[in-house]
Amino acid sequence: MVDKLKTIWLDETFMDWEAANVHLLTHTLHYGVGAFEGIRAYKRADGHTAIFRLREHIDRLYDTCKLVLLQPKPSRETVMEACADTLRRNGLDEGYVRPMVFVGEGAMGIYVPNNPVRTAIVAWKWGAYLGDEALKNGIRAKISSFARHHINVGLNKAKMMGQYTNSVLAKREAKFGGYDEAILLDVNGYVSEGSGENIFVVKKGVLYTPDLSCSILEGVTRDTIMTLAREEGIPVVETRITRDQLWLADEAFFTGTAAEVTPVREIDNRAIGAGTVGPITRRLQQRYFELVRGRDNSHPEWLTRV
Ligand SMILES: Cc1ncc(COP(=O)(O)O)c(C=O)c1O
Repeated sequence: MVDKLKTIWLDETFMDWEAANVHLLTHTLHYGVGAFEGIRAYKRADGHTAIFRLREHIDRLYDTCKLVLLQPKPSRETVMEACADTLRRNGLDEGYVRPMVFVGEGAMGIYVPNNPVRTAIVAWKWGAYLGDEALKNGIRAKISSFARHHINVGLNKAKMMGQYTNSVLAKREAKFGGYDEAILLDVNGYVSEGSGENIFVVKKGVLYTPDLSCSILEGVTRDTIMTLAREEGIPVVETRITRDQLWLADEAFFTGTAAEVTPVREIDNRAIGAGTVGPITRRLQQRYFELVRGRDNSHPEWLTRV
C-alpha cells in the first residue's frame, strides 16, 4: 500500500493528495497512451537528500512524449524542479517519484487531437521493490510465455503506460508459478528484459547485457551499472543473448530504479553459477548503493540535491 501523503503536483499546481483526481473519461485510462517515469531519491551519508539521475529520467520522459506525439505543457526544468519540490513538500527524505504525462478527458475514440495533455508528479515511500531478502540473496526468475513487443509493434524505448499490460501479464504468470520475477524474450527468442528491469549476465569475468536494438527500455540504472563496471575494469559487452546462455551464466542480475541491483540466483529451476550471489554482482551492487547513498561521491553530475 502506498501511504497517503500531503500533496500531488497536477497541471503545475500543488493540490491536496485526496483532491488530485482525474475524470473517468481520462483518455489514457482507456487507451494507454501516455508517458511516465520512476525516479528514486536517497538520503545520503552527509544527511542531505539527492535525486539520482533526475536529468536522465526527465530526458527519457520527454523522449517518450516525442515517440508518442504528446507535447507536455511544462518545460523539462519546471518538471525537474517540481520533482524536488514534491519530495520536499511531502517531507520525504527518501522516496520514489512518479512524473506522468497523460491525455485528459474531452473527446473519446482513438484520435483525440484536442484533449488536454496533463502533467502530474506523485511521490511516495518505497522500500526494496523485490524485497530486502532479494537484494541480499537473490531471486528466482522464470522465462515468460509472453514475448516483449516486436520493435514495430510497441515502442520499446518509450516508457508508455499502455505497454505495461505486457509486463503485468508476465509478472503475474511468474508469481502464480511461484517465481519472483519474469524474464521476457523478444519475438525472435532472444533475451529482452524483466517485467520492469534490465538484465545482465556474467560469463568468465565479462558482463553481458542485451544491446539497444533488442526490445528493451534503455534503463538509466543499466547505464549506471555499465559505467561502474568499466570503472572496475570489468569488460562490458552489449549483444544479443540466448535463453541457454542465460541458463549457463556464472552470474545474473536485474537493474532498475525500483529493483536497484537485484541478483538472480535461479532461472527456470536452474541454479545460476553456484546458486548464490556472485562476486561481480556483489561488487557492482555495493558500488551502486555506495553511490546512491552517498558514501561514494565520484559522480556528482548524477545528483540533484533536494
Ligand atoms: C520495462 C523496463 N525495463 C527496464 C527498466 C529499468 O529502467 P531504469 O533503470 O531507468 O529504471 C524499467 C524501469 O523503469 C522498466 O519498466
